[in-house]
Amino acid sequence: MKRTKIIALLFALTAAAAMLMCGCGKTADDTSESTPAAGGAETDYLVLVNYENPLPKDWLDRVVFSASINSVGDDVFVEAEAYKAYLGLKEEVENELKDRDVTLQLDSAYRSEAAQQKIVDDFTEKYGEDYVKKYVAVPGYSEHHTGLALDLYFIVGDKTVYENEDLVQYTDIWDVIHEKLPKYGFILRYPEGKDEITKVGYEPWHLRYVGSPETAKEITDKGVTFEEYIAEKDK
Ligand code: DAL
Ligand code: ZN
Repeated sequence: MKRTKIIALLFALTAAAAMLMCGCGKTADDTSESTPAAGGAETDYLVLVNYENPLPKDWLDRVVFSASINSVGDDVFVEAEAYKAYLGLKEEVENELKDRDVTLQLDSAYRSEAAQQKIVDDFTEKYGEDYVKKYVAVPGYSEHHTGLALDLYFIVGDKTVYENEDLVQYTDIWDVIHEKLPKYGFILRYPEGKDEITKVGYEPWHLRYVGSPETAKEITDKGVTFEEYIAEKDK
């Protein structure tokens, strides 16, 4: 069995064990913290994983994950500090949008290479190859492998808004979410009109945790992509 598969399996078992221990059912707010491998947290929150930079080989040995379950019953694993930051963002957004009864949910965060390949295959069938080239990273080159990238969906009233083509319609909700990202250490990773640099089309749902509100504010205020920010920093 590949190591990534073993780790994904360990994640699933940890989440299942946590659920059994607390007697929880499958609810959106169930969480537990898990360490997929010995080594502790030495997370490089500014790691650049993109079309030309694969996931660093020892990445999973150095990261601590939190496990949760979303409203459609999927296990979701997020780097632990990013998950705490997400909970703060979620609370503030839901509070601001409480008149519309909006609940934020995590569609996907950490993905193994096998999980990324499944998305490539499923999306190729559903949307075609051009869509996949524009929106789905090659396995090994997705920042979802880090656990620092979060894909959101939401529930509005009793309607679950889950598919990409539906999510993009809710521009007013995205405006509220995006405006709050830097305060919680997140950036919008694939902004509109920047795909020549990021090599990914606009994804309002894909957030990236960068380690601190200060860094997120700096990137957002400069109006640069993460690629440009890292290139400048490494000069
Ligand atoms: N949708 C982003 C680019 C990914 O697949 O990692
Ligand atoms: Zn994503």
